[in-house]
Amino acid sequence: MSVQFPDGFAWGTATASYQIEGAVNEGGRSPSIWDTFSHTPGKVDNGDTGDVADDHYHRYEEDVQLMDDLGVGYYRFSIAWPRIQPDGRGALNEEGVDFYSRLVDALLAKDITPWVTLYHWDLPQVLQDAGGWPARDTAERFAEYAVAVYDRLHDRVKHWTTLNEPWVSAFIGHATGRHAPGIQDPEATLLATHHLLLGHGLATQAMRERADEDSVFGITLNVTQVEAASDDPGDQDAARRADGLVNRIFFDPLLRGAYPEDVLEAVSGISDGSYIQDGDLEQIHQPLDVLGINYYFRTIVKSGQAEEPTQWIGQPDIEQVYRGWPQTEMGWEIDPEGLYLFLTRVARDYPGVPLYVTENGAAFPDEKSDDGQVHDQPRIDYLDAHFRAAHRAIEDGVDLRGYFVWSLLDNFEWSFGYRMRFGIIHVDFDTLERTPKDSARWYAQVTRANGLPES
Ligand code: FCB
Repeated sequence: MSVQFPDGFAWGTATASYQIEGAVNEGGRSPSIWDTFSHTPGKVDNGDTGDVADDHYHRYEEDVQLMDDLGVGYYRFSIAWPRIQPDGRGALNEEGVDFYSRLVDALLAKDITPWVTLYHWDLPQVLQDAGGWPARDTAERFAEYAVAVYDRLHDRVKHWTTLNEPWVSAFIGHATGRHAPGIQDPEATLLATHHLLLGHGLATQAMRERADEDSVFGITLNVTQVEAASDDPGDQDAARRADGLVNRIFFDPLLRGAYPEDVLEAVSGISDGSYIQDGDLEQIHQPLDVLGINYYFRTIVKSGQAEEPTQWIGQPDIEQVYRGWPQTEMGWEIDPEGLYLFLTRVARDYPGVPLYVTENGAAFPDEKSDDGQVHDQPRIDYLDAHFRAAHRAIEDGVDLRGYFVWSLLDNFEWSFGYRMRFGIIHVDFDTLERTPKDSARWYAQVTRANGLPES
C-alpha cells in the first residue's frame, strides 16, 4: 500500500535568517548576538561566521526558483530582527522591510506560501547589551517589533510564528552557553524562559488585535521524547524532571496557562520565581491557531552524573544515555518512532491545536561525486522513515497539517559552523553554487504525489 497524505497537506522547507542570509553589514542591518558570538574566538567550529553564509540576501530569487522545482507549497523562513529594526526599538529600517517584501512577492509569484518566523535566535546586540532575554523589557520590545513587521507584511503573509525553539534560546544560550549569548547561569536561564514566553504572549495578543480573519498565529517548540533508561525509580524520576525542563516548561504555560508544579519545585533552589508577575501566565496562554513541532531525536536519561555545564539546570544527577543506534553527523540517534510517540502525546496531553512539523531533517557528511551530484541516500532514508512515522500519527487521529524539511540549503549550523550539512540542496561554500542533492529530487516526487511509494 502506498502512503497517501490528506488532501491539502502542506509540504515545505525551512531556513533561518542568520544561517543563510549573509550580508551582515548591508542594507542597514545592525549586529545580532550571533555576529558577536561567532566572531568570538573558540565559540564556533573552524571560526566560521554567518558573514556570507549562503548569500541568500543577494541570491533569494535563485533560491525561490529552486523551491519551485521542489514543488513545495510552503516556505518557512525567519526575519532578522536587526535587519528590520536595527535599534531593537522604534523605527523600522525600510531597506530591511524591502528585502523581505521582495522575497514574499517572489514566493507568491511561484504560488509558494510564505510562513514567517519572527525570531530565530538573532537578537539585536543592542538589546543584549540592555540585558537580553533575562530582562523583562525584551519581551515588550519583541511585541513591538512583531506588530511592526505584521503591519508591513500581513497583506501578503498569513502564517506567523512568534518564536523558534525558545528552549534553545534559553537553555543553550544561557545554561550550557553553547549558543549566543554564551551565558552559563541557571537563574538567567529561567528568566530568559519566562520572558521568551511572555514575549510570545504579548506579541500574539497584539498582532491578533489588529489581525485579518485569515491570519494564523503560532509558535514552534523543539521537542524530544524523554524516557528513562530503566524501570529503576531513580531513572524514572530523572526522566520526569528532564521532560519537565525541556518539554512541559513550555507546553504547559502555552497550552494550559501554568508552569508544571513539579518543574517549579525542581528549580526552586535556583530562583524563588519572583520574576513571574501577576497576570503573566494569562498573557502567555494565548489561543494558538497552530503549534509547530521541531523533531530530531529522543532523549534517554538515567540517574547518574550530569555533564557540566548542564542543560538540566539544578539537576546534577541527570545523565544522558546513548543506545548505540545509528546516528546522524550531529550525533543524534535516528529515531522516527520518537516522532510518532511525541506527536501522539501532544494530541493526547494538549489536544485541540493543529500541528505542523516545522522542522525535521538530518546532517550527513555529503560529498559531491565524480558526476557532480550528491547521492545522499542516507538522507532520503531518514526523511522517508520520518514521513511514514508522521503518516502513522495522522492515521491514529493526530491533526497534523504539514511537514517542513530542515533544510532547503546547506547552511551555517550554529556552533558547528558549515561542517554540518542539513540541506537537500548542496551549497559549495567557496563558489556559493547550489546543487540539488538526490534527496531534493526524491522530495519533489513526494510533494507532487502528496505521498510515498510502497516501502
Ligand atoms: C534546530 C534549529 C535549526 C537548525 C536545526 C538543525 O534546533 O531550529 O536552526 O539548527 O536545529
